[in-house]
Amino acid sequence: MIKTVAVHPPLFEIEHFLTDNECEHIQNIAKRRRWKQSHTLPEDGFRSGVSEGDHQLNFQNTDTNTDGFVDFIELWYARPPIQNALITIDDIKEFIQLNEYDTDGDDKLTVGEFGKIDAKLMYEWMYDKMKADKRKQTRISDQVWVDHNSDELFDELKKRLVSLTRLPKQIVDLGEKMQIVHYDVGGHYHAHYDSEVIDNKKCINTRLLDGVEESAKFDFNKYRICRYVTMMYYLNDVEEGGETAFPVADNVTFHRKYMAGNTIADLSNHCKDANVVVKPKKGKAVMWYNHVLNKDGWIGDNDVYSLHGGCDIKRGVKWIANHWLPVDTDKERQIQYMKMKQQRNIFNDLTNKETNMLRLHHQNTIQHYQETRRHSSQNKNFQDEQSRHKNSLGVNKESFEDQQKHDKLQKQKINRINSKDEL
Ligand code: OGA
Ligand code: CA
Ligand code: FE2
Repeated sequence: MIKTVAVHPPLFEIEHFLTDNECEHIQNIAKRRRWKQSHTLPEDGFRSGVSEGDHQLNFQNTDTNTDGFVDFIELWYARPPIQNALITIDDIKEFIQLNEYDTDGDDKLTVGEFGKIDAKLMYEWMYDKMKADKRKQTRISDQVWVDHNSDELFDELKKRLVSLTRLPKQIVDLGEKMQIVHYDVGGHYHAHYDSEVIDNKKCINTRLLDGVEESAKFDFNKYRICRYVTMMYYLNDVEEGGETAFPVADNVTFHRKYMAGNTIADLSNHCKDANVVVKPKKGKAVMWYNHVLNKDGWIGDNDVYSLHGGCDIKRGVKWIANHWLPVDTDKERQIQYMKMKQQRNIFNDLTNKETNMLRLHHQNTIQHYQETRRHSSQNKNFQDEQSRHKNSLGVNKESFEDQQKHDKLQKQKINRINSKDEL
C-alpha cells in the first residue's frame, strides 16, 4: 500500500516494501563490511587549517541590510564555518551574551559593539561546544556502501523500484551503490538536502563522460551530487525515536525567519516541530523527489521542501538503507552518459525516447498519488491551505535561494580548508 505523505515534495510511504528476511539480509551484508563513521569530526589540528580570512568579521559585509546594526541573523550568516557542526542562531545569541558584546542588550550590535567580537574566539567556542555536545554534530552514524552486483537481492529490489517509480529501467540500473546506515542511541542526521543546488559544476553521476573513472575519489570542487529520487528503506523497528523528519514539507506558509538560523534543521531539539514526521518501521520504504521539474520537463531546481533528516534515536538502534537514483540536470549529458554505458555493454535496450519518460513519469506519479492523498482525511486541510496561500510559494523560494547561497558559501570555505572525501 502506497501512502502519499506530502505533495511538496512528492513524498510516499510504502509499508512492506521489503520482507523481514530481506531487511535482515541487508543488515548482514553490511555487518560483513568495513564500517566508516558518516561524518568524522574535524581534528583539533583543523583549527590551524582555518585561514585568517575565514576568521575575519567585517562590519560592512556582515550588516547585509545596511541598517547600521548587525543583528543575530546577520552574524549567524557571517560566522566562521565549522565542518560537520550545526550552529544555530541560539548558539550565536549565547556567545554574544556570554561575552557581553551587546552592552545595551537590544539584540543588535553597533559598529563599536561589533568591533569587540573576537572571531577566532567565536570559532573556538563553537568548536568546543560541538565537541562537547553530540547533538551539535550534523550527523552521528556509521555507514557502508554496497555494490549492487554483490548480491542477487539488489536485482529483485531494482525490479520493484521500476514498478513502483515507473522510471525507465536504465535510470534505476544507474542507481548509486546502496548506502547502509546504522545509528546508535543519540545518533541522528540533522535536516539537509540529499541533492545539491544547480551551479556551474557538473553532476557527479555522469563523470565518466569526462574520462573520470567511477572508482576514482570524488572531486567536489568540480562535481556536485544530483540525486533525483531518494529511496530509503527502514531495516529494523526502532524502540523509540529515529523518525525521519521533513521540517517544511507541505508547509506552504513557511518563511525565511523559520529557515535562517538553522533552528528547524536541528532535529535533536525540533524533531516534533517538523511538518511531516515518518515513523521507522521494518520493511517500510520512503520515497521522495529532491528536485522539481524545469519548464522542459527535465530535472530542475532543488525542491526546497525536500529538506529532511533523521531524529535522535532515543532507545534501541536504527538501520536504514539509502538507494539514490541520480539523474544529470543536464539532459544532454544524461543521454550521452546512458549511451556510453550502453556501449560498454551494460545496457542493450536503451532508446532516447526512454529518457524523455522522466517528465511523464514524474507528472503521472504525482497525479496518481495525489488522488490517493485527496481521499486521506489526515491531509484534507492541505488543499485549503494551499489555495489560501497561493502566492507564498514564490516568496518561500526566494528565502530558500538565499539560504542555499549561504550554505554554498559555507561549504566552499570548508572545501578550501578540508577536501571532503565522504558524502
Ligand atoms: C540520509 C537521511 C534519514 C533517516 O541518510 O540521507 O536523510 O531517517 N536519513 O535516517
Ligand atoms: Ca543590520
Ligand atoms: Fe538524507
